[in-house]
Amino acid sequence: MPVVSATLPLDPAEVARCLDPAWSGSMLPRGAYLDQAVLDFEREQIFAAGWVYVGRSELAAEPGDRAAIAIGDEGVLLVRGRDRQLRCFANVCRHRGHELLPCGTADSGRFVACPYHAWVYDLDGTLHQVPAAHRPDVPAADYPLLPVAVTEWHGFVFANLTGTPPPLDQAAPGLAELIAPYRCAELKLGAGHSYDLAANWKLAVENYHECFHCPGIHPQLCRVSSPTSGADAQAKGLWCGGSMELEPGVETMALDGRSLGVPIEGLAGEALRTVWYLQVFPNLLLSLHPDYVMTHRLVPVEPGLTRVECEWLFPAVAWDRPGFDPAYAVEFWDVTNRQDWAACESVQRGLTARRYTPGPLSSYHEVVVRASIEMVARAYLAGMPGGVALAG
Ligand code: FES
Ligand SMILES: [Fe+2]
Repeated sequence: MPVVSATLPLDPAEVARCLDPAWSGSMLPRGAYLDQAVLDFEREQIFAAGWVYVGRSELAAEPGDRAAIAIGDEGVLLVRGRDRQLRCFANVCRHRGHELLPCGTADSGRFVACPYHAWVYDLDGTLHQVPAAHRPDVPAADYPLLPVAVTEWHGFVFANLTGTPPPLDQAAPGLAELIAPYRCAELKLGAGHSYDLAANWKLAVENYHECFHCPGIHPQLCRVSSPTSGADAQAKGLWCGGSMELEPGVETMALDGRSLGVPIEGLAGEALRTVWYLQVFPNLLLSLHPDYVMTHRLVPVEPGLTRVECEWLFPAVAWDRPGFDPAYAVEFWDVTNRQDWAACESVQRGLTARRYTPGPLSSYHEVVVRASIEMVARAYLAGMPGGVALAG
């Protein structure tokens, strides 16, 4: 665990300026994107204190399934119990601290056994057995796995390390209604792709929330969806986002505009012409298309390095179509992602300029960028709902 400053390692007045209604808004002070002390502060005050996106429920779908995931600077172990309940534990054995499972891997079985000296836990985290040679005897009740709060929400798993955050529907009012028609819990994983982005996690978020840059760097995207189309969501709480419209004759976001899948059951009318780009604060970007859903899970590694894990989810019936291949969606967004990452990495390098101070945001193109920055600024100054705020 890093030594965390109990105070925000930025000038609070500069952060508060991002919230000033009399100002157009701007990026956060450059230190927010560059300094290790700020990332350490964010890990405590934002990532550990609120719900953080871990991955899909499919990570541990059946009783006995488990998966270890790195969130922030800590690993957690998701375990599906015999009662089908999903539980989450710190990924650490109570004996001498070995990881129960390497982060990024999955396993299955009736018990969770530590690979180091074979302490064995039940799926509910109870210490079940230690090797007979262990002396002295271990009082099992004193050494259960360390529970971590976890919730499954529309097929997405969120964990919380230290706080007591309100349920997501309460923290992000109105979001569930928007995403419900996309039946996310029923969608099946079609493909995944990981990127190491040499930029701060917030730059990826800010870039995601505007298409101001699209004419400059996304020729393929602009052929299927106009950068000036769509509307901003009227979001309150820990989410924000907006929509874009597909061009006439275009079925989905694909290089040729054609869908090789099927529309999500129940979508009709405008929804078949619309793509939503949403953020569940802090680290889930959720892109809702007529025929698939794409997620970006952001994991800050260093101030200037972010692990980005993308997944593409499709209706189960898509696989019934002859020759169905998720590549039509994956290729489009892989091209687009790489264009975005190049821009974000350039910003990261640009921010090293010592004399740089952030310029004003566009009140037309960058309204959602501002909303996203405001969520960070509020979390810096006041903490997350249900979190224990460090001194601001
Ligand atoms: S550290 Fe797990 S059994 Fe020793
Ligand atoms: Fe982009």
